[in-house]
Amino acid sequence: MKIVPFEMERMQSIWENQVEINLSESGVHPLTVGELLGRAEDRERLLGLALGYPQTNGTIPLRTAIAAMYPGATPDHVHVTNGGSEANFCSCWSLLEPADEVVMMAPNYMQTWGIAQAFAGSVRSWPLRETGGRWRPDIEALRALLTSRTKLLLICNPNNPTGACFDAATLDAICREAARHGTWIISDEIYRGAELAGLETPSIWGRYERAIVTCGLSKAYGLPGLRIGWIVGPPSFVAGTWAYHDYTSIAPGAINDRLALAALAPATRARILQRTRGILNTNFAALTAWLAARADLFSFIPPEAGAIVYARFHRPIGSGRLVERLRVEKGVLLVPGDQFGMDGYLRIGFGGPAHELFDGLARLESLLRTLSPEP
Ligand SMILES: Cc1ncc(COP(=O)(O)O)c(C=O)c1O
Repeated sequence: MKIVPFEMERMQSIWENQVEINLSESGVHPLTVGELLGRAEDRERLLGLALGYPQTNGTIPLRTAIAAMYPGATPDHVHVTNGGSEANFCSCWSLLEPADEVVMMAPNYMQTWGIAQAFAGSVRSWPLRETGGRWRPDIEALRALLTSRTKLLLICNPNNPTGACFDAATLDAICREAARHGTWIISDEIYRGAELAGLETPSIWGRYERAIVTCGLSKAYGLPGLRIGWIVGPPSFVAGTWAYHDYTSIAPGAINDRLALAALAPATRARILQRTRGILNTNFAALTAWLAARADLFSFIPPEAGAIVYARFHRPIGSGRLVERLRVEKGVLLVPGDQFGMDGYLRIGFGGPAHELFDGLARLESLLRTLSPEP
């Protein structure tokens, strides 16, 4: 089976550790192990951990801690994976057959776009609309896209790359449309907890019997190196995805499982998410001012969550070409809109150190100023 290249991940994998300034990351600056395990006794306990295989779908304490975040869920509703990406992979793999149709919110994290193309018969995009200064799902358009052959609807809430959050009424409307056809929904909620205003985005969890959550610690928690993600859904579905995990990586790492448990202890979780919001709000206020002062170059809808702003740029150059020139000539990495199927945009990550962000932006501006404005 052939699979289309996942362009953004390929680009990041090759360049993110080689450029001077990496603004392609969508999460916040990562925590150190020391910051995560503040107390000496917790570090000592970690040193005593035997490095055997852990329970392969996640240890019971970790699945219990995850289940506690989803009202009514038990450890049997939870499967722990290596990152949100393995959660998406096992969920899609377990659901999709060659004749199935898939509908995907767009723009979106393109992993599931590539997987769905390989495993299903057709994938169609369901574009968000820019209306009233927000990115919004168009429910009428969704109704027109879904058919009795639509096995799966893929959404991302909070959304990557726009940072838009969808409210409970919108999620209920999406579920109602899916329920007409028995369509499964996978809601990638990996940016939940990274809301700038601090109000957690509603989850799809509990709204529909075929609604699946994929999530993890890589974005809102600033712990991408832990490679911990999870699937939450009905026990029979979740047990099915575990059988696929046996063929991918077998189990999460034992240290990762243990550190994830530490991160989700209620007091630690609150401390981590507060840190995330602190970083986001400090950088975002300054970034908004910077962009607003350059309205001839950029326009944007402010994100509600995540360390990313999706900005339209006003110069006549393809986004892929612009990003390549920025990397080669200025040593800065951004994500081009064309990697989300939308040329004319840039995704700018603002979760890192402020001095790097503004150094990178100054370099971006200096390159854009060499290009004549659009006619
Ligand atoms: C929406 C979304 N889901 C999943 C992932 C992958 O998460 P992980 O690094 O935990 O595999 C990303 C990474 O950028 C993402 O943006």
